[in-house]
Amino acid sequence: MKRRQRVLVTGSAGFIGHHLALALQHHHYEVVGLDSINDYYHTELKYGRLAEQGFERMQIKHGACIESKLKERLFFIRLDLTDEHAMNRLFEEQRFDVVVNLAAQAGVRYSMDHPQSYVSSNLVGFANVLESCRRHHIKHLLFASSSSVYGLNKETPFKTSMKTDQPISFYAATKKANEVMAYSYAHLYQLPVMGLRFFTVYGPWGRPDMAYYSFTKAIAAGTPIRVFNHGEMHRDFTYIDDVVQSIAKLLDMLPESDPTAPYKLYNIGNSKPEHLLELIAILERLLGRKALLDMQPMQPGDVPATFADVTDLQAAVDYRPGTPLEEGLSKFVSWYKAYHCKQELEPLAESA
Ligand SMILES: NC(=O)c1ccc[n+]([C@@H]2O[C@H](COP(=O)([O-])OP(=O)(O)OC[C@H]3O[C@@H](n4cnc5c(N)ncnc54)[C@H](O)[C@@H]3O)[C@@H](O)[C@H]2O)c1
Repeated sequence: MKRRQRVLVTGSAGFIGHHLALALQHHHYEVVGLDSINDYYHTELKYGRLAEQGFERMQIKHGACIESKLKERLFFIRLDLTDEHAMNRLFEEQRFDVVVNLAAQAGVRYSMDHPQSYVSSNLVGFANVLESCRRHHIKHLLFASSSSVYGLNKETPFKTSMKTDQPISFYAATKKANEVMAYSYAHLYQLPVMGLRFFTVYGPWGRPDMAYYSFTKAIAAGTPIRVFNHGEMHRDFTYIDDVVQSIAKLLDMLPESDPTAPYKLYNIGNSKPEHLLELIAILERLLGRKALLDMQPMQPGDVPATFADVTDLQAAVDYRPGTPLEEGLSKFVSWYKAYHCKQELEPLAESA
């Protein structure tokens, strides 16, 4: 009998990793999730996601791979990517076929004050992922990059063929570094790699440091929203299910475009930039309350607009993200109300 594909999803207690781990398990892969459960934002949210995957907080111990109580073929290990030896041991024991690296220190604004955290997870941690993949002959590595690598590029939509060597935040610099580090491994060792440039992903179980989440919290609480660049911002908001579908479709393909290395970059975005004030107007409608706006200047590191060209993605997998913002936000707000009502959490800190 053919062995099931065994996939490592790093960052599985995080927003995108949580949804991806569940979707791949559903698609009959064997899935091992990995996460350090760091406290960049409220860890309750991470434990909540893990509970939905079938891992109880009491069960979770550093370095021990545990089995889900709810889902077949789903496992979790609490581990830090920076622990080179533990990573090597894990790869030796688990014999993964595919690796999806989503674990990283995320957030543009946080990188102004905490660069070390990005060096550690995004550079040292990512180097360990590459080395483990090389040593253990992984068939395919997919990793999270970001639309932030496009920096202040004026030409839109953003294409992967554009120059991306002027990042305007340290976060973006580490994501660009990941792309070139991965390229060298693809070239030197013929490691098949795909880099995925995500564009402002949102949805249920989302990240509390992101605008759509912190705006929802503020509108619900009747507190002011800080609106940067006086609202003159456009973002290509991309719904989580569309991102997960894109990754799931790319997982089984191998990159073949570049003659010098089995390496390919894809934009994963909705290709429909929305004005920030439109985001706020939709949230006001969904929450039935007016927002209090505190207009602020542009923040260092922020870009005024993002807009993905997804022609390559569409050509490769015959699919493109397309959930309209209002439809996706409606699902997010429903989840938000149910979750915050149930948890009776302290207000989540706006960490970036
Ligand atoms: N959400 C977005 O809009 C977006 C946009 C562009 C790129 N990305 C990238 O996508 C990936 C997933 O993002 P997300 O929104 O799910 O973020 P997230 O912060 O919710 O998830 C990342 C997870 O990685 C874990 N992690 C961090 N450092 C680690 C380490 N050294 N070892 C093990 N685990 C570690 C964290 O604990 C966290 O649970 C990240 O690489 C992020 O940079 C996200």
